[in-house]
Amino acid sequence: MGGFGDYQLEIYLDGLRGVVPSLPMDFDGLAERARAAMPPSVWSYVAGGAGDEGTQRANARAFEAWGLVPRMMVGATERDLGVDLFGMTLPSPLFLAPVGVLGICAQDGHGDLATARAAARTGVPMVASTLSEDPMEEVAAQLGGTPGLFQLYTPTDRALAESLVHRAEAAGYRGIVVTLDTWVTGWRPRDLATANFPQLRGHALANYTSDPVFRRLLPGTPEEDPEAVVAQWAGIFGNPLTWDDLPWLRSLTDLPLLLKGICHPEDVRRARDGGADGVYCSNHGGRQANGGLPALAALPAVVAAADGMPVLFDSGVRSGADVVKALALGATAVGVGRPYVYGLALGGADGVVHVLRSLLAEADLIMAVDGYPTLSDLTPKSLIHLPGGGALP
Ligand code: FNR
Repeated sequence: MGGFGDYQLEIYLDGLRGVVPSLPMDFDGLAERARAAMPPSVWSYVAGGAGDEGTQRANARAFEAWGLVPRMMVGATERDLGVDLFGMTLPSPLFLAPVGVLGICAQDGHGDLATARAAARTGVPMVASTLSEDPMEEVAAQLGGTPGLFQLYTPTDRALAESLVHRAEAAGYRGIVVTLDTWVTGWRPRDLATANFPQLRGHALANYTSDPVFRRLLPGTPEEDPEAVVAQWAGIFGNPLTWDDLPWLRSLTDLPLLLKGICHPEDVRRARDGGADGVYCSNHGGRQANGGLPALAALPAVVAAADGMPVLFDSGVRSGADVVKALALGATAVGVGRPYVYGLALGGADGVVHVLRSLLAEADLIMAVDGYPTLSDLTPKSLIHLPGGGALP
């Protein structure tokens, strides 16, 4: 595949007709416009993070500590950004990270569906969150030929966890991503200042209210008693899993099983020994624990310990250059978080498509200019570490 860089040609040619892009071309512009377009409580929930947001800032800054080395006279006229992941043949290494309030980020209240439509149009897989405004089956129905994965927040009720996983299998999702770092909510001053937690206001609970096991836990129907839904959800949402639970998780499905939130090599080894098919190196975009370590700094050791097992990565990716650097440090696939949420808030599915195409175009053109025609050409040797450029060891 390839040709992602052609997006710039499209934009310049439109310019000849006096048409300029209606959406911003960089992350800061997207964030600024999204802030104005979103309700203040939704904006601060998305944009905010844990503590003084130092980890969140460090995630993005860590990319500045690496410089990509240009190589000349390679003739990289055609780039191949394709990856094979768990039997999926993907046109690019980009994926849409799971985001739990997508629904209310879109102007029509159905952002999960719009994001799935953007995945269908771009071939960029969507990791659909447990927390969604529309049930996972309806999200899957919008994915077209693009694969989706289902992200599981493991509830304490095991029968409910099993039901969610089996529904994901039946809906055609191609993998289960178990998020480990959110069994309890991190300390988020922005949300605390407005006493705002969307799920407690009944948002993003469609996968629960549509679930037969969850519904049996309620005194009546979810429609009759929304307060009972929230109370029941709050009672079973967070399961403080330990490694002893991994055999059970593994037993739930034959689909590829990935563990999200892994930043330590020993945890990678335990994941692999316990039968996981991949790990997902992430610190939740700095939303959970404000410890200061950028996820990118953890990536090289995670990749080394994974020893060939796929490593998905997110946290702090803001540009095509960031995508290329994460790939060079060994990520198999790179997740986008807040940038596409801002695109969604501004332009629905079109906005998400714009953000994804912009990231891919920049990555593709960097690979062209710097002489790295394929992903396998990108290795740690393609990078120089710049002392003082970020918080890296
Ligand atoms: C998230 N993230 C997340 N992760 C997850 O596994 N399940 C979820 O439901 C959510 N929900 C969620 C909501 C919002 C508003 C954000 C911003 C993020 C984390 C997400 O998958 C990813 O790890 C981060 O977004 C990556 O960081 P950046 O790139 O957004 O800074």
